[in-house]
Amino acid sequence: MHCHYEKIRNEKMRNMENPFKFGTIVEEEYFTDRVNEVAYIKQFLKSANHLVLISPRRFGKSSVVAKAVKESKRKHITVNLQQTTSVSDLSAKLLREFFKVHPMGRVRHLIKHFRVIPTVSSNPMTGSIDVSFQPGVDGAVLLEDVLTLIEKAHSEKDRMIVVLDEFQEIRDIAPKLDKQLRSIMQEQKHINYVLLGSQESMMTDIFENKKSPFYHFGELMRLGKLPREDFHRYLSERLMVVFPDIYEMLSKRILDYTGCHPYYSQQLAANVWQVGILHLDSEDPMDEAIDHIVKSHGLDYERLWMNLNRTNRWIMQRLAAAKPLQSGEYRTSTVYSALKRLQKDGFVIYTDRYELEDPFFKQWILSEME
Ligand SMILES: Nc1ncnc2c1ncn2[C@@H]1O[C@H](COP(=O)(O)OP(=O)(O)OP(=O)(O)O)[C@@H](O)[C@H]1O
Ligand SMILES: [Mg+2]
Repeated sequence: MHCHYEKIRNEKMRNMENPFKFGTIVEEEYFTDRVNEVAYIKQFLKSANHLVLISPRRFGKSSVVAKAVKESKRKHITVNLQQTTSVSDLSAKLLREFFKVHPMGRVRHLIKHFRVIPTVSSNPMTGSIDVSFQPGVDGAVLLEDVLTLIEKAHSEKDRMIVVLDEFQEIRDIAPKLDKQLRSIMQEQKHINYVLLGSQESMMTDIFENKKSPFYHFGELMRLGKLPREDFHRYLSERLMVVFPDIYEMLSKRILDYTGCHPYYSQQLAANVWQVGILHLDSEDPMDEAIDHIVKSHGLDYERLWMNLNRTNRWIMQRLAAAKPLQSGEYRTSTVYSALKRLQKDGFVIYTDRYELEDPFFKQWILSEME
């Protein structure tokens, strides 16, 4: 009887979809908490100000902004600068997103003012719209025309929200682009800009360096890790089905291991869940999952490690083993500047203390030290 029940349960489980998601923007059932942050962003966008959101990589910036913007029910467009190859491409992408919100027929009179007429074609199969500009035209002109169009199509009472994700890329797309963009934005009153990017990148420099055109451009908001209690509930609810006896303990161990990092917690939980489905008799699903992840990234970790210099390796090992950095082995100034560098490169993050960004890389380092 017991056996029969077990069999049905196993079969049922194998057909279930993994309830955890890591990598891209999460919404709906994959999104948890951030209640205060979403409320704050929504409220903030009711003002005439711009918002800058910074956090370490994969903390959930894109997700939290997408949710807040969607819930605001306002007209909005999002462009990811990481996928943008030139100023002309950025202008075309902005315009394409704009047409998704404003049917072209209604704004045709505004496009007449464009100094360079865009080629707009629609794909009748997918219904999607393609926008391009003829090559060789001055990108600055295109960008100004597109942003002016957005401004003209809106009003102070009905501002558009323009989200620029991975904003730090602005400095790589074209020289002086930050300056051009800033001077266009300066004149605008009908747009709320939301600019996001990761802490390790140039973001802080762009908004906090007095010499940068974006110095004090908007309100600076920082995103932390997810609150433990909510995340614990989120994991527990989903692990319960597979591990009816130990799901609470597993959730706790996952969060201890990842320190509540949104991405790594979801990644580990997804793997623990998977182990539970495939090896029901596993002795320790958590260890097995960690082992699997560390092994599958082994080659990357090795390559990364080879490219680090000795001081950096030493610091990474000390952080991995939770040992103090002030041991007299290296000068304080050397340690400090190496830490800054490691932070910029994304290996180390600073929350309430310095820690390794990737708990699985940390595991790899520890196992190599043995
Ligand atoms: N509110 C949330 N609830 C649950 N999981 C989340 C949440 N926010 C982020 N995550 C997890 O973190 C992952 C990364 O989220 P997201 O892409 O929004 O972060 P990001 O900060 O924009 O990352 P990047 O630095 O790569 O741009 C998600 O795929 C998900 O696994
Ligand atoms: Mg993102």
